[in-house]
Amino acid sequence: MHAACLKEPTEPRKVAAILTGGEGERVQIRDNEKGYGLVSRWLHWLMALAIFFLFGLGYWMMGLEYYSPYYRSAPDLHRSIGIVVGLALVFRFVWRLANTKPDDSELSHVEQIAAKLVHWGFYPLILVIVISGYLISSSDGRPIDVFGLISIPSLVTEKGLSDQAGYLHKVLAYFVIGLALVHAAASLKHHFWDRSGVLKRMISGPPED
Ligand code: HEM
Ligand code: HEM
Repeated sequence: MHAACLKEPTEPRKVAAILTGGEGERVQIRDNEKGYGLVSRWLHWLMALAIFFLFGLGYWMMGLEYYSPYYRSAPDLHRSIGIVVGLALVFRFVWRLANTKPDDSELSHVEQIAAKLVHWGFYPLILVIVISGYLISSSDGRPIDVFGLISIPSLVTEKGLSDQAGYLHKVLAYFVIGLALVHAAASLKHHFWDRSGVLKRMISGPPED
């Protein structure tokens, strides 16, 4: 066989290279100055997907009638995925602090500040959405059942708290989706307009040395 044929990666290997971020064989787990490793990229896209899904599910389930077959199962699913997002958020925060932030010197000074504000803004915002969601459901004393596997006890019970938490939950859920859309638009602008590698490095891993 010709030597060049051996170098050409087969289709499954190409797909694996995108998923794992390896240009070659090595899989980059951690982030470095050149880009995001496997853990950050998977966490980013899975959490983004989960948050958009929770928003849609939350919006839809609020309109369900008492006799709908989903009246109980939809909020159960919403709460379960929401708690998993909360746990993933804590892990992601620790992972972010324990890793080198990829270099963004190709952005202007203003863009760098805006990106920092938006990126760091997501963490407290999502945290408060999760905590308020927990309070909506648990402030009447009921525990939260996560996929039937674990049960999170109710810690705070107070009259009227559920309604206040519900209001905050709704407002912040709309806010986080708005921010995510602005954030996504900015990344698409950098990709298509400025032809920068910002979106690419969140999709595939950092280049090898
Ligand atoms: C990032 C995660 C989450 C997002 C984006 C989200 C989004 C939403 C949205 C859009 C609604 C509909 C609000 C309305 O129209 O009034 C909703 C409702 C609700 N969410 Fe979440 N949610 C998240 C996490 C959670 C968590 C972790 C829990 C509980 C542990 C939770 C519990 C609830 C409950 C109980 C409702 C019904 C509210 C009510 O009856 O007033 N959510 N959520
Ligand atoms: C709710 C949805 C989303 C959240 C919460 C979110 C959050 C974040 C955060 C916190 C970062 C900083 C890196 C980190 O700490 O992990 C980041 C980076 C990034 N996000 Fe998102 N994101 C969301 C959706 C999206 C979408 C839909 C796109 C594109 C279509 C996108 C594109 C990017 C890109 C390209 C970066 C890398 C920026 C850089 O290299 O500095 N994100 N995102």
